[in-house]
Amino acid sequence: MKLSVVGCGYLGAVHAACMATLGHEVIAIDTDKAKVEALAAGDAPFYEPGLPELLAEALGSGRLAFSSDIADVKGAQLHFVCVGTPQLHNEIAADLSYVDAAIDSLLPHVSAGDLVVGKSTVPVGTAERLAEVLAAADTGALLAWNPEFLREGHAVGDTLHPDRLVYGVPVGTNGERAVALLDDVYAKTIADGSPRLVTDVATAQLVKVAANSFLAIKISFINAMAELCEATGADVTLLADAIGHDERIGRKFLNAGLGFGGGCLPKDIRAFMARAGELGADQTLAFLREVDAINGRRRVRMVELARDECGGSIAGLRVAVLGASFKPWSDDVRDSPALDVAEQLHLQGADVVVTDPQAVANARAMYPDMSFADSALEAADGADLVLLLTEWPEYVGLDPETLGGVVRQRRILDGRLALDPIAWRAAGWVYRSLGRP
Ligand code: UGA
Repeated sequence: MKLSVVGCGYLGAVHAACMATLGHEVIAIDTDKAKVEALAAGDAPFYEPGLPELLAEALGSGRLAFSSDIADVKGAQLHFVCVGTPQLHNEIAADLSYVDAAIDSLLPHVSAGDLVVGKSTVPVGTAERLAEVLAAADTGALLAWNPEFLREGHAVGDTLHPDRLVYGVPVGTNGERAVALLDDVYAKTIADGSPRLVTDVATAQLVKVAANSFLAIKISFINAMAELCEATGADVTLLADAIGHDERIGRKFLNAGLGFGGGCLPKDIRAFMARAGELGADQTLAFLREVDAINGRRRVRMVELARDECGGSIAGLRVAVLGASFKPWSDDVRDSPALDVAEQLHLQGADVVVTDPQAVANARAMYPDMSFADSALEAADGADLVLLLTEWPEYVGLDPETLGGVVRQRRILDGRLALDPIAWRAAGWVYRSLGRP
């Protein structure tokens, strides 16, 4: 099929390349000309494992092209809207201006019978409003919502083999037609075993934010348990292992530590609360405020722990921060817990040196005043305190003796409960973490 993808960020660039790999002819559009040029040359503008190879294959096949001219979508039957919905400045609601602009830009170029497919995460009710925009412009095009569940760092696998496909479609024959078109797009994915669920558009929009809220709840639940473990001398890792054996609970997403960050979970739970308020149901999601608050407290606690370990003040001390991205296998620093902690320590007068295998350039752009190093050993050179804040394998696998050879003081704080306390203490380190004695 001939498809268009509007928006070439983490979602759109991966989606476009994956659709071409599935055999479709894809034109991917972005207003950022530099990004389009990079992608057209096979350069992924962000770090995502497997994407460079996929881009090379898709571009080589001749089925994938990039453009900054929206008129190039002409001839495509399906148009995927993959633009961002970030948090509004000084508000908890989502900024829908990119989604609105994408739909407006498509209007002159879609034909009767085309299907516009929203993939962006939007407040429930947005799809219904956009369907009216398409109808009012007399395009004859239909609108469906097909939320995306990919995780950064696993985006290629999650797109080609998703846990599930959700099609939110209009009622009646228009809906049947939308399902048939989407089934053609995802024929291989479905044949490979991904379940597909057909819903109304409101449910499809809610599925996405409900899923992200549930994940955030799991993380904040275990972090609340970590607070109690700190008050009682218990061990949150053992607690997570023990409750995780219950299949109804499950061990996944129960890793305590610095909590969640990134461009999705934090802004999605906030936008969900804002939307519930608009719908007159603000009490319904009041618990998400607490989920957000618990998450924020972990960062504050980490800074307190650093100060406490250094005798009440970190001013003038050299602090090595291992990790800047919001999680391993990503160079994304949006709402990164690691960088937030690093910035707080920096503001409190510490000489902070941050390192990350992939995210230094993005972190430096956000915090040009902070110091950065290319490796853990370089960052830790002469350090009075080391903080592990993003659990990249190369940091988890660090040898306590080797790192001990470069620091001034063997003191390490484990923000992700990823290190073996016995091994580090045996090598003469003071080891402390959140939620573990
Ligand atoms: C998340 C969802 O997992 C995806 O399903 C969804 O499609 C995506 O948001 C989105 O809305 O686009 P992502 O933000 O890439 O994906 O990252 P996650 O793997 O969910 O991790 C989020 C944060 O939670 C990270 O900061 C991570 O370190 C933290 N986390 C995760 C924990 O603190 N503990 C855990 O046990 C798991």
